Amino acid sequence: MLGSRRHFPALTAEPDLVYLDAASGTPCPEPVIAQLTAELRGPAGNPGRGGHPWARDALRRFEEARAAVAAFLGASAPDEVAFTRGATGAMAFLTDRWGATVLADGGDILYCPGDHLSTVRPWLRLAERMRPQGVRAVAYRRDRLGRIHLDDFARAASDRTRIVVATDVHNLHGTRTDLEALPIPPSATLCLDCSQSAGRLPLRLAESRAEVAVVSGHKMFGPPGTGAVYVRRGQHHRIVVDRAAGRSGPARHVSPLTDAAEEGSLDGAGAAALAGAATFIDGIGLDAVGGHLAGLAARFADGATRIGGVTLLGPPVDAGRPHSGIVAFALDGQAGPDVAFALERRGIYVRAGDHCLDGPRDDAVRASFHLYNDENDVDRLLQGLTAAAERT
Ligand SMILES: Cc1ncc(COP(=O)(O)O)c(C=O)c1O
Repeated sequence: MLGSRRHFPALTAEPDLVYLDAASGTPCPEPVIAQLTAELRGPAGNPGRGGHPWARDALRRFEEARAAVAAFLGASAPDEVAFTRGATGAMAFLTDRWGATVLADGGDILYCPGDHLSTVRPWLRLAERMRPQGVRAVAYRRDRLGRIHLDDFARAASDRTRIVVATDVHNLHGTRTDLEALPIPPSATLCLDCSQSAGRLPLRLAESRAEVAVVSGHKMFGPPGTGAVYVRRGQHHRIVVDRAAGRSGPARHVSPLTDAAEEGSLDGAGAAALAGAATFIDGIGLDAVGGHLAGLAARFADGATRIGGVTLLGPPVDAGRPHSGIVAFALDGQAGPDVAFALERRGIYVRAGDHCLDGPRDDAVRASFHLYNDENDVDRLLQGLTAAAERT
């Protein structure tokens, strides 16, 4: 299964394409497409809206999907997970309906300006809105390879810190944060962006230091626009629930989290298909996925260092340790979009441009491997880079 495209119709339809942009969005495998199709073909009940058999059945399937995704994320219970519109929707929910309560008496939000804008912006907006209550956004830095600067983090942290916003795997550098090493003050709660780790590396949220987290469904083989938010039960009392919102059918109370995050009609098909994606990945095993990605990333790093003019923008890759499979690089004297275009002409799709970051270096290019990629894909990328480097 690892290194094989056979479960991915979008990839088998284009056998010569080397798709290296999984960190933006993964193609859907057959079981996920089958799940989505079955949902759309089946009874059209609206989960939680109506007491007839179709509605009851839709609700049952929705809750089964929740349980599957919660288990995949390593939550203690299904009611700690709610479905959202991607990780962006999940983070906006957290700032609005949880963060504002945590910060009601003032305090600092620690964040990294070098993180994804979907993660940074909502917290900056909240800090701005709550400035009169004594809320501040305090920055900590990453080094040029994407590792959190621990001294800088320690300098920014204080007993005023209420929320630490961190990214599990960085979307450009591919670096995984060592959460244990972060000097998080006891006054603070950790909010973790797992958009790039879910589906690539094992996640055990209940055992981690994160009490709230966000996940992107379309980066872990779910349908576009799906996602999830995790809030540990101990944080549920801080969620703002609007009792009147969207309650036009029988009550569908699961937890304060689901009441607040799942207002209105639900995307039952998306939830079921996201659960199908979790089952698909579990069937392969995340340890195996992380190992496979480490092998590909190490092969790339090894080959890239032999090409004159290539600079790697992530920490050294150890083939023996699980890796995100996200690698970034720059080619001397060439803008990122030019390199990406040169690769695209050889049928290799990577990411360049702003990377959804605030001011990344304009020569940065990202290749993100996933479980369907193989060594041949890495070699095609290296050949493409060699050709691009020779143009300078
Ligand atoms: C680290 C990180 N956070 C958040 C997001 C936003 O995710 P979504 O597309 O699900 O809104 C992304 C997407 O690229 C990401 O890489």
